Amino acid sequence: MNQSISPTTKLSGSLVLPPDKSISHRSLILNSLAKGSASINNYSTAADCQSTLACLRELGVVINATTSPIGTPTSVDLEITSPGQSDLIEPVTTLDAQNSGTTMRLLMGLLASTPLFSVITGDSSLRSRPMSRLSKPLSLMGANIIGRNDNSLAPLAIKGGSLHGIEYDMPVASAQVKSSLIIAAMFAQGETILHQPALSRDHTERMLKSMGANISEDDLNISVKPGPTLNPVDMTIPGDISAGAFWMVAAAAHPNAKIKLENVVMNPGRTGILDVLKHMGAKISVENDRINGGEPICDITVESSEMTGVDIGGEIIPRTIDEIPVIALAACFAKGKTTIRDASELRVKESDRIKTTVTELSKLGANVEELPDGLLINGTGYLSGGDCSSNGDHRLAMTLAIAGTLANETINISNSEAVSVSYPNFWNDLSMIMNG
Ligand code: S3P
Repeated sequence: MNQSISPTTKLSGSLVLPPDKSISHRSLILNSLAKGSASINNYSTAADCQSTLACLRELGVVINATTSPIGTPTSVDLEITSPGQSDLIEPVTTLDAQNSGTTMRLLMGLLASTPLFSVITGDSSLRSRPMSRLSKPLSLMGANIIGRNDNSLAPLAIKGGSLHGIEYDMPVASAQVKSSLIIAAMFAQGETILHQPALSRDHTERMLKSMGANISEDDLNISVKPGPTLNPVDMTIPGDISAGAFWMVAAAAHPNAKIKLENVVMNPGRTGILDVLKHMGAKISVENDRINGGEPICDITVESSEMTGVDIGGEIIPRTIDEIPVIALAACFAKGKTTIRDASELRVKESDRIKTTVTELSKLGANVEELPDGLLINGTGYLSGGDCSSNGDHRLAMTLAIAGTLANETINISNSEAVSVSYPNFWNDLSMIMNG
C-alpha cells in the first residue's frame, strides 16, 4: 500500500494513544504462567500483540474478547484463563511470532521452562534477527534449543524443563532478553542473578512482582528466586509512549502545532524520548501524574519549538531505542549537528534502522550520515518531498509520515501498511491531527 502525505499549515488536537505494545504482550504472557483467570482491558489490536495472543492459544491458554469489536477497534478487552505454566499443552503446530521480536523472545523463556517440544518461527525480518542472545543463556540453564546458523536464527526448536539458575552478565541491555531469562528463572532450581549493562524497561519485573514473584533489583542487578505461586492479575493497558513519540516530534518540529497525548506510560526505561526532546529545547509539559497497574502514567502536551542539535549515547540509548528514527527526523529540524552513538542495536531491529533511516531521510534531502553505531545529522530545517519506503518497518513508516507533515512537498511512502504492526489506527489519528 502507498500513502501520500502533504505538508500542512497546522497540527493540533488531543489523542488517546494506542495501548502500550510492550505491556500488552506481557499482560498475556505473564498471566499465562499463573493458573486461573484475569481481565485485560484495553489490549492492543496491533499485529505484534495479536501474534502473542495466537501463540498462547496454541499452548492451551483460553483468551476471549469481552467487548464486541465495532468498526475498526483500536483496543479490545480480554478474559484470559490459563491452566498455569506446568499444565500448558504441547503445541501441535509451529508457533508463528510473525514480525514480533517480543513475542519470540519472551516465549523462548516460557517454552524453555517447560518439557514440551515446540518450534517457533516468524516472518523473513524476524527470521534474520539474532536469537543466540537467548538460545545461549537458556541452554546454559539446561534447555535444548536448536536453530539455523548455529542455533542463532529462527525457526528454533525448543525442549526445556529441569532448568537450573545461573549468574549471567548480559552482553546487551535488552528488556526482551532480561524478561525471557526472568520467566525461565522463575521455574528453575535455585536463584538466577542477571547483571545488566544498562537500565531498560522493567514492565516484566513490575508485573511479576504484583503476581507474587520473588524478584529483587539492586542497581543493574536482578535476582530471581523460584518458588512462589503466581496469581493472575487484572490490568488496564496504558497508552504507548513509543507511539506518542511520533506526535511529540511532529508538534515540536512543526511551526504551528500543539498536540496533547493522554494516558502515556512513563516507565523510567521508556522516557528517554522526553529527556532527548527536552534537551533539544522542545516545549513539553507533563501533567496529571498518576499510578495505574503499577506503572506511572501522565498526559503530555508538546508544542512548536526552536530545537538545537544534541549528542546522545550511553545509558540513554536503551531508554529510547525505538524512538531513534523519529529523533533523527527531529534533528533535521534542529539547529546544528546531532550525533547518535552507542546504538548498534538498531541494526538488528525490524530493519537495519541505521541504514534505513539514513537511506530514506536522504531521499528527502536530509543531511544525514551513517555511523557504525549511530547517525550524524546536520539540521537544515528543510525536507523536500519525494518517494520513499518503510522497508517493511512500522517505525520507519510512521517517521516518514511525520516527515510528510513537515516537508515542503508531498512525500509518498510505499509499504505503508507496516504501521499496523504497532499502531493500526495511525493514519486516522494523523488525519485527525492534520485537520485539528
Ligand atoms: C521491547 C524491548 C526493546 C524494544 C522492543 C520492545 C520489549 O527491545 O526495541 O520494541 O517489549 O521488551 P530490546 O529489549 O531487545 O532492545
